[in-house]
Amino acid sequence: MQSSLRRHLTYWLLGPLLLLVAAGSLVSYRIALNAATKAYDSSLLDPVLAIASHLRHAGNSIELDLPSIAIEALRIDTEDRVFFQVLGPGRELIAGTPRLPAPPERLAPAEHIFYDAKLEGESVRVAAAAVKVETGIAIVQVAETLIKRDKLVLELLVASTVPQVLIAFAAVALLWLGIGLGLRPLDRLRDEIAARSPRDLRPVSERDKPQEVSSLIGALNQLLARLNAAIASQQRFISNAAHQLRTPLAGLKTHAELARREPSTSELRSLLDMIAGETQRTSHLVNQLLTLARAEPGETPSGQPVNFHEIVGRDVRDWVQRAVGKNIDLGFELEDAWTLGEPLLLRELAANLVDNALAYTQAGGSVTVRTGVRNGESILEVEDNGPGIPEAEREKVFERFYRLPATGGEGCGLGLSIVSEIAGRHNARVDLARPAGDRGTLIRAVFPRLAAQAAQPARPLSTRAVPTSR
Ligand SMILES: Nc1ncnc2c1ncn2[C@@H]1O[C@H](COP(=O)(O)OP(=O)(O)OP(=O)(O)O)[C@@H](O)[C@H]1O
Ligand SMILES: [Mg+2]
Repeated sequence: MQSSLRRHLTYWLLGPLLLLVAAGSLVSYRIALNAATKAYDSSLLDPVLAIASHLRHAGNSIELDLPSIAIEALRIDTEDRVFFQVLGPGRELIAGTPRLPAPPERLAPAEHIFYDAKLEGESVRVAAAAVKVETGIAIVQVAETLIKRDKLVLELLVASTVPQVLIAFAAVALLWLGIGLGLRPLDRLRDEIAARSPRDLRPVSERDKPQEVSSLIGALNQLLARLNAAIASQQRFISNAAHQLRTPLAGLKTHAELARREPSTSELRSLLDMIAGETQRTSHLVNQLLTLARAEPGETPSGQPVNFHEIVGRDVRDWVQRAVGKNIDLGFELEDAWTLGEPLLLRELAANLVDNALAYTQAGGSVTVRTGVRNGESILEVEDNGPGIPEAEREKVFERFYRLPATGGEGCGLGLSIVSEIAGRHNARVDLARPAGDRGTLIRAVFPRLAAQAAQPARPLSTRAVPTSR
């Protein structure tokens, strides 16, 4: 079972509280017993004195000069049974029950004591008094059972203990609530952390948090800072490595190209062709890695108003050239679609989507690039009527270095990872679907829309670059 602060503190408080209540009850019991004993003892003495005042001399001995009806009246008690005993100077029984024990100590004349005793196995309280008679000292004892005393003790005990127990439970209940209230800032902290995107590595604010959790927040922030530094250093490493690789690769490519033009044997030419192709692929890989490194979580995007209409517009010429080269009908349906983001990264995103469409659509196919606002969101959409991506593969193609098994061509499997990284960084989502014609791929990036900009709107564009060869 998971440890709970609330449970822990409650047990911790409940134990000592119960001990305290028990100790308090013990003290209360002693006080109640004392009070009950005092109160009833004094009334137990009354019949003793009444009997003592009716002792008479009869020759050598003494007798109790009370009619039995008066004796009965003295013994009447609603709850307890009352016994009496009169002993003569020689301790002989003059009247009453013989079963009462003798007083525990010698009594001087006119002295009285109270003591506890057993009568036929029952506890009794006894009042004994010594009465001076001519022939010596007589003893008068009256005993009563403890029923009403016990009752009074119980009442007093309950009256003092019940409030203590109630207070103890109230304290525990308050503690329970108090812990809940006290831990509420932790709930806030949890919500704050849970609501974060994995890219957001900013330190957690200590504002509105109790002092007690500030060390926890401090440790968390240190961890975040270290993580941030680690990611930054990894990104620097990749981007440095990519930069370092770029120059020699460019050189290699150029030299391979130059060498191909030299007259030479056909084997040498085909080897050089291979070198040129491999160099081409390697520099593409390096470029994709570099873009991926830039798109990965790092410091939060600076974010400026960006219009996809313009972003797409910048690369139209290159794409049209490629489309014409591959005999693909490339069309554009561009409307303003503003969002907040980094233009360079968004351009990479668009380039990768169009690149895939042009790369995987067969010659004679068609590709359409759309931008605009749908359902209050800015979208960038690329549709083609190529081979399509099977439903089962739609998640996998976003994994790094994953390519569909049947795919040929030059790719390295990073394009859609780059797309999803960049989208994630801009709080956008990427949907993959089958277009209406039930053939090909429709991939749509949906961005939070930035309300109509002060910047001048770009002119809507709807064209098709029809390949000349058709
Ligand atoms: N428009 C498309 N039509 C058909 N298949 C596609 C399309 N776009 C992507 N794919 C499939 O998804 C795979 C992953 O695409 P991704 O862009 O991530 O990698 P790549 O194109 O192979 O390499 P890179 O883009 O890094 O050069 C591709 O290899 C291809 O199999
Ligand atoms: Mg690609």
